[in-house]
Amino acid sequence: MDREKIINILRSTMPEKRLNHSLQVSETAAHLAMNYGCDPGRAALAGLLHDCARDRSDEELLSLAGEYGINISFVESRCPLILHGPVGAALCRDRFGVDDKEVIRAVALHTTGSPEMSLLEKVVYIADKIEPGRRYDGVAVLREAARRGPDEGLVACLAHFMYYLINKGEIIHPDMVSAWNIMALKVAGRNF
Ligand SMILES: [Fe+2]
Ligand SMILES: [Fe+2]
Repeated sequence: MDREKIINILRSTMPEKRLNHSLQVSETAAHLAMNYGCDPGRAALAGLLHDCARDRSDEELLSLAGEYGINISFVESRCPLILHGPVGAALCRDRFGVDDKEVIRAVALHTTGSPEMSLLEKVVYIADKIEPGRRYDGVAVLREAARRGPDEGLVACLAHFMYYLINKGEIIHPDMVSAWNIMALKVAGRNF
């Protein structure tokens, strides 16, 4: 499916603000991919599609997750919004005709991260958090970390959002904790 067709479908399923965010994530992901040395076209595609399920209700996300055989753990059952990553990945394959497994996985992982992430998956995770439309406190630090490299960018994003969730009294997905454990050691140059 070409980019224009994808944008038209997204426009019909999400508010203007989300579409703009998706376009900016796509552009930022392409830019990061060029800097880090992976394919900008695949990064742009994953960035464009990453939030394709973000505007589904909790009920729809749970129902689609069931339909697609996606595991619903303790955390997802209490915070179904997390499912917009894996459900979005299933929609990429099923409704948008994407067959690039790494692009699909990058969409799946953009909510929680994972202890094993490829460069492309890191790019999409980071781009989502630092695209130019993001205005939250601390985003400048994350942009600066991303300039130092993908691992530095990823670990800074994970730290920021884990603090954010804890401060709000939210629960944290185990994949996010595992991603943090691996990446924090890697960035610090310690063995794991
Ligand atoms: Fe998202
Ligand atoms: Fe997003």
